[in-house]
Amino acid sequence: MTAPLRVGLIGLGEVAQLMHLPLLADDQRFAIAAITDVSPSLVDYVARRYGVARVHADADSLLANSDLDAVFILTPDHLHADLLDKAIRSGKHVFIEKPAALTAAQLEPLLSVPRPPDQVVFVGYMRRFSRAFLELKTRLPALDTIRHVRIRDIIREAPFFVAQTRNVFKPNDVSPDIIATGRARTQSMLRSVMGEDCPADALRAYQVLTGLSSHSISAMRDLLGLPKGVRYATQHGGETVIALFDYGHFTALYEAVIDDVSRFDAGIEVLTQTQHFKLNYDTPYIRNLPTKLEITTSSATETGTEIIGPIYEDPFRIELGAFLDSVVNGTPNKTSLEDSLQDLKLFAEIGRHFRAG
Ligand SMILES: NC(=O)c1ccc[n+]([C@@H]2O[C@H](COP(=O)([O-])OP(=O)(O)OC[C@H]3O[C@@H](n4cnc5c(N)ncnc54)[C@H](O)[C@@H]3O)[C@@H](O)[C@H]2O)c1
Repeated sequence: MTAPLRVGLIGLGEVAQLMHLPLLADDQRFAIAAITDVSPSLVDYVARRYGVARVHADADSLLANSDLDAVFILTPDHLHADLLDKAIRSGKHVFIEKPAALTAAQLEPLLSVPRPPDQVVFVGYMRRFSRAFLELKTRLPALDTIRHVRIRDIIREAPFFVAQTRNVFKPNDVSPDIIATGRARTQSMLRSVMGEDCPADALRAYQVLTGLSSHSISAMRDLLGLPKGVRYATQHGGETVIALFDYGHFTALYEAVIDDVSRFDAGIEVLTQTQHFKLNYDTPYIRNLPTKLEITTSSATETGTEIIGPIYEDPFRIELGAFLDSVVNGTPNKTSLEDSLQDLKLFAEIGRHFRAG
């Protein structure tokens, strides 16, 4: 057996505890070799729980650890661009949770940071690795036959689902200064795109784009390519977002609503004259919830629905395999920084509609 990939984790919060730590620990192709977080009690908990030998006082020290092959950046979004810059320069392979950065202006200069030719920098858009999504991509009809596309994220946020299914260690020893600085930096980054005088609801809506909607919008691009532009977008109260993407002979309609109804209704539908493709995703916070692709095909006299799934393999696990495949075999990585930049440019364009509307 080849030696496992030695990974270091920066940030040990919810997504690390729910997904990345258990998936890495379950997989003999990886070794969790080092960790860091700004919470000492959390570092201590994870080190004991996962038997991690090396704990670092901060991200800089972890990135300087020459014993690591790869680093996972799992921190709040406002730290992503700075940590990406340092991680790329460290020469290690990089997995970063989405979004790669909060703004296109932050990400753009990182594309020209000198890199070893085989370095993988991979952005964690797990929905794009779901088997049902990959099947939809394979089965997608010719673009010129598409009449309409509907994409949606009508959801309740994580705490409701997590509270009933998992015990996440929530530390109380993170300095209030770190929390306050993080909030202020986030607001300032959002304002750098949306304008200093941007109303709070439009600012929140831009943040919803970089958080929840980035999954759907990056999946839309993966499936259909880049739209010609954003024909219309609006938001209400920050957590209802509607956007119409112009694909020329059809329009892709995107809707996001974050509310307190306990369901997670996310998916993509593609309609041609005689076929309706319907892909659904459930909440990612509960592992292994099934995804399904339904394809209804009609002729003049008959109709039928083919159901692919339910598929139980968790998209986070497939994503981890894809990361490893890029590192070990050099397989091209579709969720690259260049790819993420397209999303951030679209979010800025949507944001301009929020301001105009
Ligand atoms: N793919 C998905 O579906 C998905 C789901 C949830 C979160 N995420 C992304 O993952 C990232 C983390 O989200 P989360 O929900 O786990 O957040 P979280 O707040 O629960 O965890 C972040 C962790 O980073 C730590 N941290 C903060 N500053 C740090 C620093 N300077 N150095 C080291 N550690 C630091 C915090 O103490 C905390 O433990 C975000 O970018 C988020 O967008 C993705």
